[in-house]
Amino acid sequence: MLAWAREHARPARVVDPGAGSARFLIGAAQVFPDAQLLGIEMDPFAAILARGNLAVHQLADRARIVLDDYRDVRIPAVTGQTLYIGNPPYVRHHLIEPQWKKWLVATATRYRISASQLAGLHVYFFLATAEHARPGDIGLFISAAEWLDVNYGNTVRDLLLHVLGANNLQIIEPTAEPFPGTATTAVITGFEVGAQPQTIGIRRVSSLLDLGALPPAWMIHRGRLESAPRWSPLTRVVPEKREGFIELGELCRVHRGQVTGANRIWIAGAHSAILPKHLLYPTVTKARELFDVQGELTDTSTLRQVIDIPVDLAVFTQEERAAIEKFLAFAKTEGADQGYIARERKAWWSVGLRQPAPILATYMARRPPAFVRNAAGARHINIAHGLYPREELSLAVLEPLVEYLTHNISVTDGRTYAGGLTKFEPREMERLLVPSPALLLQGYREEFA
Ligand SMILES: C[S@@+](CC[C@H](N)C(=O)[O-])C[C@H]1O[C@@H](n2cnc3c(N)ncnc32)[C@H](O)[C@@H]1O
Repeated sequence: MLAWAREHARPARVVDPGAGSARFLIGAAQVFPDAQLLGIEMDPFAAILARGNLAVHQLADRARIVLDDYRDVRIPAVTGQTLYIGNPPYVRHHLIEPQWKKWLVATATRYRISASQLAGLHVYFFLATAEHARPGDIGLFISAAEWLDVNYGNTVRDLLLHVLGANNLQIIEPTAEPFPGTATTAVITGFEVGAQPQTIGIRRVSSLLDLGALPPAWMIHRGRLESAPRWSPLTRVVPEKREGFIELGELCRVHRGQVTGANRIWIAGAHSAILPKHLLYPTVTKARELFDVQGELTDTSTLRQVIDIPVDLAVFTQEERAAIEKFLAFAKTEGADQGYIARERKAWWSVGLRQPAPILATYMARRPPAFVRNAAGARHINIAHGLYPREELSLAVLEPLVEYLTHNISVTDGRTYAGGLTKFEPREMERLLVPSPALLLQGYREEFA
């Protein structure tokens, strides 16, 4: 951790939250000979041990151990950067007092982040660090890795993405025994407070010898962490090392199309003839419509139309409103307001189609998925996935990307079910390897044409 800090921090002060014997501070003193050293420790015996240890190492003149609770200690301001480094205590929630649980929820709420009373003490330490630190401060904590995945870990994940500015995750496999004697996965989390890095470095190590200041094995787009309910799966498979290739998810979010809840009602037809035309959206409603167009959808005239009525009916003229009410009365007699989907959405009559996706893809068939550039701006329902670029992609990139996907993705890339049916979940599709925009712009397509 200090090897990493040496390359990423220029601290005027090093703070160790939960300093124990002060071994982090003593290590840091060598790497940063000019830095002040501040340990916060709640256990008086540990605090005495830490002070003794620092004195033996002749660091007493630039070190202080404060006997206090890290969650509400006052840490004085310094000029320059502070490095927060340490090994926050691992204490399960059963042993955390109710008033601190209240503190956790109230403090997290100020950051518009939710917190669970089931969180362990290390979650409190991340939150307290957000409270103490200033923009530009650097953090490096080693902790058990469960916050990457469990529900209560969302507090740490949200803090890291939106407040603490995570830039590096090194996951240490249990085989390396990061905490000697326990078969725990650990994670070293690097962050720069207030930063919003677009990509976050990831590395998994199975031996402690592999730690150190090595560069991350790969970079992951922050948007993928933002939308993933659990982070470990994103850290597990090292993408095949192939010069210039990246995961599709780095370029595009993949979203399944909207479920209508009742296609016989919400796909327009004779039964909906009275509705104003502007409520009807040309939509891909069958996988075949994508298989048939050979890579580009330029015309919506053969597509069916999906009815998408806004939640707020007050926006319509009286005449339109009357027609809509009449249609909705009919839909009700057909039970369109009763299904699970209809009852779960904001208003039972509002399907809520997604915006047109620049690329559409089928995801379930006995053949490779069809990828189609959606030049016509059609909507899609849940028989297709929509690929939405994270940042705008020019036609010069979109076209060869679609072409690459069309020619290179096989059924074996997806998950095969009995009977040979292959399915790509949105997250699985995001893991497909594709040439980077730079490679696509260089005319990569010619190589496979
Ligand atoms: C996992 S140990 C880490 C010790 C040291 N950094 C090391 O690596 O050896 C956690 C330390 O945090 C202290 N601690 C626990 N709760 C604390 C709190 N609320 N505020 C400050 N220190 C606390 C414990 O007494 C313990 O010494």
